[in-house]
Amino acid sequence: MRGTTRHLSALALALLAPTAPVLAESAGCGKEVAASDIGVTVVRNITSSDTGRSFRVHLPEDYDASTPHSVIFGFHGSPGIGLYFEFDTRFDDPRWSSGRILVYPDALNGTWATGYGGTPVEQDLRFVQDSIDYLEDTYCVDTARIYATGISNGGGFVNRIACDRAVGANFAAFAPSSGAYTGFQRGGNATCTPYKTPLPILSIHGGNDTTVPYDGRNASTSSTSPGPDDILATPPITYWLEGWATRNNCTNMTTTTINSTVHRTVWTCDGVDGAMEHWREDTMGHVWPSTEPTFSQISAGEPPTKIEGNEVILAFFDKWQVDAPPADGTTGPGPSGTTGSAGPSGTGNAAGRTAGSLAMAGVGAAVALFGEILI
Ligand SMILES: *[C@@H]1O[C@H](CO)[C@@H](O)[C@H](O)[C@H]1NC(C)=O
Ligand SMILES: *[C@@H]1O[C@H](CO)[C@@H](O)[C@H](O)[C@H]1NC(C)=O
Ligand SMILES: *[C@@H]1O[C@H](CO)[C@@H](O)[C@H](O)[C@H]1NC(C)=O
Ligand SMILES: *[C@@H]1O[C@H](CO)[C@@H](O)[C@H](O)[C@H]1NC(C)=O
Ligand SMILES: *[C@@H]1O[C@H](CO)[C@@H](O)[C@H](O)[C@H]1NC(C)=O
Ligand SMILES: *[C@@H]1O[C@H](CO)[C@@H](O)[C@H](O)[C@H]1NC(C)=O
Ligand SMILES: *[C@@H]1O[C@H](CO)[C@@H](O)[C@H](O)[C@H]1NC(C)=O
Ligand SMILES: *[C@@H]1O[C@H](CO)[C@@H](O)[C@H](O)[C@H]1NC(C)=O
Repeated sequence: MRGTTRHLSALALALLAPTAPVLAESAGCGKEVAASDIGVTVVRNITSSDTGRSFRVHLPEDYDASTPHSVIFGFHGSPGIGLYFEFDTRFDDPRWSSGRILVYPDALNGTWATGYGGTPVEQDLRFVQDSIDYLEDTYCVDTARIYATGISNGGGFVNRIACDRAVGANFAAFAPSSGAYTGFQRGGNATCTPYKTPLPILSIHGGNDTTVPYDGRNASTSSTSPGPDDILATPPITYWLEGWATRNNCTNMTTTTINSTVHRTVWTCDGVDGAMEHWREDTMGHVWPSTEPTFSQISAGEPPTKIEGNEVILAFFDKWQVDAPPADGTTGPGPSGTTGSAGPSGTGNAAGRTAGSLAMAGVGAAVALFGEILI
């Protein structure tokens, strides 16, 4: 678990002041990485819950094994694979990846466990923890600056992680976009036990999204078969936001309209300014937000959005870090909540390194891929 791979650098301890950034180096700092793995994306396979799992890792061109890097997890939509999210968001571009390690995990059978799909939630949460343990041990990671973003079903899973006291405690901030928050519909009973208050969370959603509508969708009108407790329905985004505003003890909600169709709402939560943010883009559908055309926009026949999601999300992430554990190590992630991760599983091993540098597929091929992505 994280305690074994985390240690504060002596320098950070020496300089420790209440507001000083804490440099939390992982065990992978100082470990040599093959030059051929830098600036490219490689596939890593680990065993988690006795199941073979995979994720893509992109080390930035400026990767340096002696400098702790932040880590951005990007969760794909459903049905999908990490490669789609990687191509769609273009986070690997040095404009965004410099100083960061990008990680694109693959769901089992294309769908993250958020209340539908065959994978138990505990198993997907365990996979996230095992991936983090592998990354911290292999690369030079700043363990206080690990973040999660995702689209649609992947956004719903980001919410699931945020709601998990144990696995969520690895993350400094969360940023779902076009999230399908299944299980959190009005009257739903999904549990949410974040590890701290306030938990920094930013969300983006299109006002013109017909797949995960801004105003919610009842199971009876779902495009997929409704479950016994309407678990497939997605809540109105305002309802989902109210849930987080309550858990985060937020007040002082302020909405600013930018260029007529972009509405940015910021909250002060438990005295922390800007701990929660929401961006509504009225004209945006179920796509990745970018001022440059993305595959999901092209696939949906939509023009670029007025906001650059990558800038919005990374600027938010850069403001937050996991709180420094006290020197005596008395606190850390709290006990596992009811949605907490399950017991130990066979943990990571670096098996396959199957991919070299990205070869960009043609736009036509990408559109064919994205044509299949619904949620
Ligand atoms: C994935 O699909 C395979 C083949 O259809 C099936 O055997 C397996 O149970 C599925 N796993 C999950 C987690 O849905
Ligand atoms: C939600 O409630 C239903 C019945 O009302 C129950 O069958 C289901 O297990 C509950 N789900 C959770 C996650 O508690
Ligand atoms: C869902 O159903 C409730 C109760 O029937 C209704 O009030 C609400 O407007 C419906 N929402 C949507 C998005 O259809
Ligand atoms: C309320 O929001 C304003 C504008 O964002 C900020 O300047 C102010 O500090 C906030 N007030 C409180 C009590 O947090
Ligand atoms: C919520 O915020 C108020 C005002 O900032 C504070 O008095 C109260 O203790 C907070 N509650 C929790 C549960 O953090
Ligand atoms: C919403 O999307 C539809 C179809 O993609 C488009 O015709 C319409 O103009 C869009 N509405 C807004 C407000 O952008
Ligand atoms: C908003 O509009 C201004 C002026 O038209 C333009 O310069 C700016 O790029 C726009 N910003 C966004 C985010 O679209
Ligand atoms: C890695 O995982 C992927 C996806 O689960 C699988 O298709 C592939 O065979 C695995 N490769 C190795 C070397 O285990």
